[in-house]
Amino acid sequence: MGRRQGTLPSRSAINSLAQAFSALSQCNQSIVSSTSCLRGGARRALAASAVQEEESAAPAASRWGDKVMHRTIRLRNALQDELSSLSGLCLRSKAHWGYDAAFLAACRTELTIHPHELQTTSLQVAERDTAVVGLVQVRVAGADADLLKLFVEPALLGAGIGRLLFEWAAARAHDLGATRMTIEADPGAVPFYVRMGAHHAGSVPSQSIPGRMLPRMRMELDRRRSSGVAASQ
Ligand SMILES: CC(C)(COP(=O)(O)OP(=O)(O)OC[C@H]1O[C@@H](n2cnc3c(N)ncnc32)[C@H](O)[C@@H]1OP(=O)(O)O)[C@@H](O)C(=O)NCCC(=O)NCCS
Repeated sequence: MGRRQGTLPSRSAINSLAQAFSALSQCNQSIVSSTSCLRGGARRALAASAVQEEESAAPAASRWGDKVMHRTIRLRNALQDELSSLSGLCLRSKAHWGYDAAFLAACRTELTIHPHELQTTSLQVAERDTAVVGLVQVRVAGADADLLKLFVEPALLGAGIGRLLFEWAAARAHDLGATRMTIEADPGAVPFYVRMGAHHAGSVPSQSIPGRMLPRMRMELDRRRSSGVAASQ
């Protein structure tokens, strides 16, 4: 009789362990619980904790779609060899608003992330298990921060990942000395940014679509945002 299957670690378990050790060796990731099962203040409090380095966090029950699942969302620095797939995620996420193929093709250049941006901007990804499910990119120059990208995997919208990433970017920008953060927002994302505390600040021409104007949003970064997150970069 062969060895009982249950005594052997599965291939996925081995992969998970390998990734855990790899992540530990980088010493630069935040581990946070998805808070999508929570609303309002409780969720905000937990989301804020996402920008603080934590030793560990137990998975929290999360509602995604119709299912209640146990998942942990990890925030970590983007890696150079995943920039191509991150650019793909940006396009997939942008498509959520129903743009046609020609429109998305016109956005491709602006949504492509280049290796040098790892040095000139802060780029953070959200990971669920082994899958990247969102990203945020912020650039700081003096007191001004620009939120360049914020994209969540379309199947996971509304699960709290956007908030986690936005809060990370705001804290990161604040830690780098910014006092305000500006967003050239997709019109579909404006209610989200308002929910995050941003306000309308005029409009700007789209960098991808000639003649198209985009809402400009602005967020003041107060001292409460300081979180020590700079240590994670
Ligand atoms: C905008 C985006 C990043 C938000 O991410 P998300 O993970 O879906 O948002 P969250 O689940 O974290 O939502 C946080 C809060 O904003 C609210 N919210 C999110 N999207 C909203 C919308 N379209 N309208 C109204 N409220 C919204 C949520 O209800 C939640 O409110 P709560 O705190 O009361 O529970 C996501 O919709 C996305 O990736 N869209 C496609 C790409 C895009 O347009 N990116 C922005 C480019 S400028």
